[in-house]
Amino acid sequence: MHDTGTGTDTVTVRVPAKVNVQLAVGAARPDGFHDLANIFLAVSLHDEITATPAETLRVTCAGPGADQVPLDRTNLAARAAELLAARHGIAPDVHLHIDKDIPVAGGMAGGSADGAGALLACDALWSTGASRDELLEICAELGSDVPFSLVGGAALGTGRGERLTPLELGAPFHWVFALADGGLSTPTVFREFDRLTPDAAEPEASPDLIEALRTGDAVALAAALANDLQPAALSLRPALADALAAGMAAGALAGLVSGSGPTTAFLAKDAESAEAVAAALRGSGTCRAARVAVSGVAGATVLRSDRAAGRTSRR
Ligand code: C5P
Repeated sequence: MHDTGTGTDTVTVRVPAKVNVQLAVGAARPDGFHDLANIFLAVSLHDEITATPAETLRVTCAGPGADQVPLDRTNLAARAAELLAARHGIAPDVHLHIDKDIPVAGGMAGGSADGAGALLACDALWSTGASRDELLEICAELGSDVPFSLVGGAALGTGRGERLTPLELGAPFHWVFALADGGLSTPTVFREFDRLTPDAAEPEASPDLIEALRTGDAVALAAALANDLQPAALSLRPALADALAAGMAAGALAGLVSGSGPTTAFLAKDAESAEAVAAALRGSGTCRAARVAVSGVAGATVLRSDRAAGRTSRR
């Protein structure tokens, strides 16, 4: 069995949110998923996951929207601990505490971030020696966006989004995120996409967009931003159009729904402009809050590890 130690062992991992700068969606597959060309950027809104040995697997959560986060085994953090433990013959007796800053059910991969973060934290706590490829495989099992939460930076996701190709980033971009009240369910948004798009085309990554990322050209990136789920999110939540209009009126280069929404994302030309767009959005009455962030940040990263040597034992 895993030794519960003296309570001094603890590992904290920081994990970024994501924005999809291109989300090209194909027709529904027989397994219910959709083939995607999904270009992810990691952005500087983070959750922190702390893993501490415990009598049994337990999840707690604090921060904005924490009351909407499930604390049972459906939480991706709990599932990550169970999957890793099962593969390595370890009892998943761990307390996972999530310090939330990524909007809950906001289309910014907050749940996926917690899955990737818990996986990395438990891996460090238990010294499993799992390879990066094994961790990525577990991430893909947890959900389509989870591998990107581990990797960060910029990447193209194909298949259902889980097969990643890293992309070059010439410079950080400046973003504003307008947070909406309540969440949107990803499966519901995909179903609305199916209803609105009976003849979905084969998804293809945009060469112009990849080039804009490589050169760090915000104006070119603004022209290439595209989210096939946006009409579905707007159909389910028409008020998001008001937030998009408010951000554009405030001087954003472009605005789009982030992933399946309801967060809206605005690309600004520089940090100063991002602050101005955020201030205008806060005063517009079209969103709950507005946050600035930069893109291209690292994926899941161990921040603190106070693991005493030799504490972890196998069963
Ligand atoms: O992979 P993940 O569990 O995050 O996906 C959540 C839901 O989003 C899926 O159950 C499915 O309804 C939808 N989805 C999809 N096609 C994808 C990714 C997600 O239809 N490529």
